[in-house]
Amino acid sequence: MDYSQFKTEVSKRRRTAPTRELTKIAYSAPMELISLAEGMPNEETFPFTEISLKLIDGSSFTLEGEELGAALQYIPSQGYPPLLQALRELQRKNHAPPLWESRDIVVVSGGQDGLSKALEAIVGPGDPVLVQDPFYTGTEVVLSPHKAELIPVAQDAFGVDTALLREILKGRRAAGKKMPKIMYINPTGANPTGSVLPLERRKDIYRLACEYNFLILDDDPYHYMYFTDEAPKSFLSLDTEGRVIRLDSFSKILSSGLRLGFITAAAPLVASIEVHMQSSHLHAPTISQVIVYNLLKIWGHDRLMEHFRRIRVFYKKRRDVISALAKKHLHGLADFTIPSGGFFLWIKVRGVKDTWRMVMQRGVTHGVLLVPGAAFMADPSQPCNAIRASFAKASYEDMNSALERFAKMIRAELSTISNNNIENGEV
Ligand SMILES: Cc1ncc(COP(=O)(O)O)c(C=O)c1O
Repeated sequence: MDYSQFKTEVSKRRRTAPTRELTKIAYSAPMELISLAEGMPNEETFPFTEISLKLIDGSSFTLEGEELGAALQYIPSQGYPPLLQALRELQRKNHAPPLWESRDIVVVSGGQDGLSKALEAIVGPGDPVLVQDPFYTGTEVVLSPHKAELIPVAQDAFGVDTALLREILKGRRAAGKKMPKIMYINPTGANPTGSVLPLERRKDIYRLACEYNFLILDDDPYHYMYFTDEAPKSFLSLDTEGRVIRLDSFSKILSSGLRLGFITAAAPLVASIEVHMQSSHLHAPTISQVIVYNLLKIWGHDRLMEHFRRIRVFYKKRRDVISALAKKHLHGLADFTIPSGGFFLWIKVRGVKDTWRMVMQRGVTHGVLLVPGAAFMADPSQPCNAIRASFAKASYEDMNSALERFAKMIRAELSTISNNNIENGEV
């Protein structure tokens, strides 16, 4: 596939930084090579002599000597080579991607960094982009400064409505409108709705991507956090044409403070993102990459998968608790679908057209903060009756109090709406 058809002019104009390319060469060259080329500081001047970490299962590791030196040093922009190798093995095992030899991986500073760099490689001023609606606010903030034309695709309880997507694409083509080069999708534990897109719909979307020639940006930080019986099959595992840019993040499964994620995509797209990194933060934090590499080495694949299974059990229990509490406190006031993955409960409030005003005006006085649904809509200027509640972190007691207070807040809002209606003679 010719990927230049998808790239922006800015992305095509980016050139590699010679010093960064030399770091790459120095890392892969034989030991005899003496490099005076790079501006690396001397590790002897660093004040750290040892970093020891204990893991949840009692195992531990210590970084010292040469390994500590490497962990404190500049590395090639693509990532810490031993980690890159471990991530390649992980992706092969977990997704068995077709066309594996034509793909590559780049380590980024969290999913958000990957998201913005991937989108900025593809989306230029005014370009149309398909987005699931509602969608992650972090995507909207990347796209809006580019004046991208957001094409919202509504979702039901299972995620993107693929019949609607087909209609939208058909309609645009028939009307001679500019066609989208990319679709943004967050298919598992969608933020904010908590849905998990069924396999048949994933296949439908992939077929449409091939038919209408667009790429799929699969933002999948909750991939291992599904509460369905079957593990979701990734778009990468369906990708027979090299159209999928897959974003993984360690934020939700190892630690968000590590600021690490990785992109798996066709090599020319990965190369564009790597070159962008050369002009921005050079590479994702080495120390984080070395920590994750050691963790993967000590645990191996099976223990890592066991860790993910424990996370699923942990969040599923929280999902069950918040769902029961919402049922108890919001009965008759709001509706929601039990989330199938991720961190969030998406609640639609009855009788309140715009939760933005309600949350902003009453949240602090009622002692509860939630995200108004409009924050996640492709057109945030339109009123939205939903709110997003996270069940990831609050204690069960706090969840209970929060939903109790939320119910009071809704009642107060409904009472104001009703009084206003009476004053305006609408009742
Ligand atoms: C759907 C989605 N994508 C991306 C991110 C970015 O996360 P990070 O940069 O920590 O990987 C988040 C974080 O909440 C998210 O929910």
